[in-house]
Amino acid sequence: MLPRYLSVTARLARRHGGRPRREATARVPTRSLEAIASENAAEGCVRETWGALFAAFQAERASDPALRRAFARIAGDEARHAALSWRLHRWALGRLGVEGRARVEAAREGAIAKLRAEIACEPPPALAEIAGVPRAHEAARLFDAMIAAVG
Ligand SMILES: [Fe+2]
Repeated sequence: MLPRYLSVTARLARRHGGRPRREATARVPTRSLEAIASENAAEGCVRETWGALFAAFQAERASDPALRRAFARIAGDEARHAALSWRLHRWALGRLGVEGRARVEAAREGAIAKLRAEIACEPPPALAEIAGVPRAHEAARLFDAMIAAVG
């Protein structure tokens, strides 16, 4: 069974002429707590939090009512993922040494810098209008507010 956000996005993609496909996933070997915490800091704390904010923005701005509804659901899902990531982050930091914590924080800061560069691109006008994707200046303001709120 697909996660809820994938079934929602797959249905929307089909409606707009897309052909969604399931991505292959690979098993990963057992990793250290620091490796897991570093990935969680980047993908969870930074990108899931951004995903929640981004989807909430789209839920307000998309001109297509079906997309607004879908993004509202996705925003809730992403917010729950982000909350779990932040809980895991705090738990893991409490179990790592000073140097491990510093490397995890460096991973998070690196993800912030990378994502800040990615969102500097202006979306196509149709995407901003129909799907409510924030324009570059709006994304920068949202991003700065997110960083101010969560560090
Ligand atoms: Fe997520």
